[in-house]
Amino acid sequence: MDSLQDSYVLSNGIKIPCIGFGTWKLPNEISTVDIIKTAIDCGYRHIDTAYAYHNENAVGKAVRSCGLKRNELFITSKLDNPSHGYENTMKEFDKTMNNLGIDYLDLYLIHWPRPILFRENWKEVNEGTWKAFEELYQDGKIKAIGLSNFLVHHIEALMETATIAPMVDQLELHPQYVQRETVNYCKDHRMIIEAWSPLILGRAFDHPILVKIAHKYRKTPAQVLLRWSIQHSFVPLPKASSLERIQENADVFDFTLSEEDIEEMKELEALGQTGPHPDTAVF
Ligand SMILES: NC(=O)c1ccc[n+]([C@@H]2O[C@H](COP(=O)([O-])OP(=O)(O)OC[C@H]3O[C@@H](n4cnc5c(N)ncnc54)[C@H](OP(=O)(O)O)[C@@H]3O)[C@@H](O)[C@H]2O)c1
Repeated sequence: MDSLQDSYVLSNGIKIPCIGFGTWKLPNEISTVDIIKTAIDCGYRHIDTAYAYHNENAVGKAVRSCGLKRNELFITSKLDNPSHGYENTMKEFDKTMNNLGIDYLDLYLIHWPRPILFRENWKEVNEGTWKAFEELYQDGKIKAIGLSNFLVHHIEALMETATIAPMVDQLELHPQYVQRETVNYCKDHRMIIEAWSPLILGRAFDHPILVKIAHKYRKTPAQVLLRWSIQHSFVPLPKASSLERIQENADVFDFTLSEEDIEEMKELEALGQTGPHPDTAVF
């Protein structure tokens, strides 16, 4: 990957740009429209939102007013936790499309595998949800369908009844939390892996190993973390709110971490995940 506009190819042939712009916590306001248009001006072509982020209107406004053709952008949204099951998914998808104000979605994900509302009957509920995803995909309303926060046992349960295999899994992934089992499973099953919180929410920028490696390449810890993601063939989804940070996070294609750097970064694994576990998350 040599630029923000380089892409991986999903198992169904659809291209997915190698870095996405994260939007969690950006408000549903004009400021967010401006931030996303800034990101697009800087070369980002892939935007990650979700119904639960309550900012789909702003994302849609930015997409519609940025001056690019719709097919030059890759837009992802995610199904909200209380809306699993066939009927709910169909209704929820319509709400997302109304919010965004666009004709089709590039990627739709089940946000979490086992919401608290469906904690006991999650397998059969996900069966209905996925059936709706498959129909929306076959109708051309979504270019690709996938999962988020699905671990191996969640994917295997889904695959018992799926007729179309998921093309993506979006996971918390960074040097503190490497999820080897799920990552290996996804790679074995031709699923592209997206990395959420790829900057560890900014919490590890002063870690001595990141500071040292950043200094070595005259880069920042944020750029080292994004390189780590790219060199693992993940699609990182960095979120940032200023032009400087948006540009900084895009400027990651002119250096390569060595095997020794990546080995040294394994020390961060002791710090662990930042988000909840998909089986016990209280939402
Ligand atoms: N599927 C899921 O369940 C799930 C869960 C979490 C996140 N996600 C997705 O993944 C995206 C990214 O994850 P995230 O937002 O949790 O965290 P992140 O991208 O790891 O970190 C974002 C934080 O880092 C700061 N930051 C960004 N670039 C920086 C830089 N160059 N220097 C210093 N600080 C910088 C941002 O500050 P400012 O914004 O103030 O600039 C923000 O506070 C989300 O936005 C969302 O799209 C998905």
